Amino acid sequence: MMDETNALKEIVSPLLTWYHANQRKLPWRENKDLYRVWISEIMLQQTRVEAVIPYYERFMRHCPDIASLAACEDEELYKLWEGLGYYSRAKNLKKAANIICERYEGKFPEQYEEILSLPGIGAYTAGAISSIAFEKATPAVDGNVLRVITRLTEDDHDIMDAGFRKQVTEMLEKIYPERECGDFTQSLMELGAVLCVPNGMPKCEACPVRFLCGADHSQTQLQYPVKKKKAARRIEKKTVLILTCEDKIAIRKRDGAGVLAGMWELPNVDGNLTKAQALDWLAEKGFVVKDIRKILDGKKQFKHIFTHIEWHMTCWTAACEAVVKDRELTWVSVSQLEAEIALPTAFRNVLKAYLKSN
Ligand code: ADE
Repeated sequence: MMDETNALKEIVSPLLTWYHANQRKLPWRENKDLYRVWISEIMLQQTRVEAVIPYYERFMRHCPDIASLAACEDEELYKLWEGLGYYSRAKNLKKAANIICERYEGKFPEQYEEILSLPGIGAYTAGAISSIAFEKATPAVDGNVLRVITRLTEDDHDIMDAGFRKQVTEMLEKIYPERECGDFTQSLMELGAVLCVPNGMPKCEACPVRFLCGADHSQTQLQYPVKKKKAARRIEKKTVLILTCEDKIAIRKRDGAGVLAGMWELPNVDGNLTKAQALDWLAEKGFVVKDIRKILDGKKQFKHIFTHIEWHMTCWTAACEAVVKDRELTWVSVSQLEAEIALPTAFRNVLKAYLKSN
């Protein structure tokens, strides 16, 4: 990698020229306001640009600055985030906004180490913010950038290896331009997103740094990046219950640990329960059930994929005689559930199928 630093310096100027002429018009590129850059980089963690745009614009209307984010009620914040997933990002945004208000007098810190110390900000995001908003030579190395660099240099290191990422970061630090650091960061991301694409052949004929690319030269583009297989996700079987009584549906809050901590959910239990088992569970809770039926996702079970876990969900809907006073349950109308409650996508999909089946 060291020997390649000098050669790689040659990508800077053509990439910047290409970026200036070809960058996509994206809402967070309208200006380099720090707050706007920060929110965009958090939303763009693990989420595609097209999916982020409408969320970003709505978020900016509701919480236009750090103070309004710090003061935003949790329920409103989660509602703004509903559908984006990884709610810890939203929780960390608010935590960080409060820290900025308390520790930095409401002004986003400028030093890389301070930025990195904020909740929800790792090396990639700190590098992106510090280069885009402060024009510092701080690379932001994510999967896109690793794909571009490993193709250029035909490097077959495992890109999941943290040591290798650090090596790439250090190498990039050496080739950053003196000015336009933010544009250089975004030019690498942009190249990875629009030309040096994952899944299938990259569009080398349009690439501004093709003349330097080892993988193009030897037509080995699809061999890079090298990525070791991740451990398989753990499968958790669940049964979700849509309990209805008159025109209300039961929801409850998840406890404060694990996946979707503290979020609203539809009542659920471990395991895929049969109808008889579901009826037993309901009877134990004191429900008098008028009608029970299964809800399917098309012809199949519901499935929801998190980073390390997969939920395979059976769903029973039970119409109940009367609202059982259960400390855990909150009864809400469908319209309340749609307008006010942030229900994570795993449950929202089950609810949608139920509403469609009615
Ligand atoms: N992905 C992460 N940060 C990005 C940015 N600033 N523009 C486009 N895609 C991105």
